[in-house]
Amino acid sequence: MKIDIRISIMRIEDLDEVYEIEQKIYPQPWSLNIFRSELERPDKRVYLVARSEGTIVAYAGLMIVDGEGHITNLAIDIPFRKKSIGTMMTLRLIEMARLKKVHWLTLEVRESNKAAQNLYKKFGFRSIGTRKGYYSDGENALIMWTNDIASKEYGELLEKVKEELVGK
Ligand SMILES: CC(C)(COP(=O)(O)OP(=O)(O)OC[C@H]1O[C@@H](n2cnc3c(N)ncnc32)[C@H](O)[C@@H]1OP(=O)(O)O)[C@@H](O)C(=O)NCCC(=O)NCCS
Repeated sequence: MKIDIRISIMRIEDLDEVYEIEQKIYPQPWSLNIFRSELERPDKRVYLVARSEGTIVAYAGLMIVDGEGHITNLAIDIPFRKKSIGTMMTLRLIEMARLKKVHWLTLEVRESNKAAQNLYKKFGFRSIGTRKGYYSDGENALIMWTNDIASKEYGELLEKVKEELVGK
């Protein structure tokens, strides 16, 4: 049975639920203050939540600087993984980035985090290098970038991802 997922812009009232997931899944979670300050800059940020039956089960964020979008966070609550919610959230984030005239997307991801890397590869992210000891526990980060997300070719890639979602 397909899971019913509603994606919307993250609001300050969502932060308690978001923070609960953040603390559960990350060894070094963001503080509530970081989330609050991100939500205070809606011109330069896109933060989304996904709800299933009214409960927040995922969230994602994007920071925009000079036509570049930096994916700052993407988190799916543990029981809701492998149900295409990460794909839906990334798709919506990228569609919103295109509307905000972003051309290139980048992110850092742990070298060991193959699940996230596989997801990002579906959206055309390619690893262009590493940041040594980027995380506070010493793990390296892979730096990933897309091609121009405003291009026709990238639009076709998004259409392909959407078609795959419909088929799942
Ligand atoms: C990484 C994460 C966001 C994936 O979310 P998800 O909703 O489970 O992903 P989806 O179901 O949309 O899967 C999309 C693709 O990701 C890859 N993927 C997802 N989980 C995977 C796993 N456990 N192992 C390998 N690949 C995986 C697959 O390529 C998958 O495509 P497929 O279904 O066609 O095989 C989720 O595991 C998560 O929240 N992890 C903890 C937080 C995190 O690492 N965030 C990223 C920080 S950069």
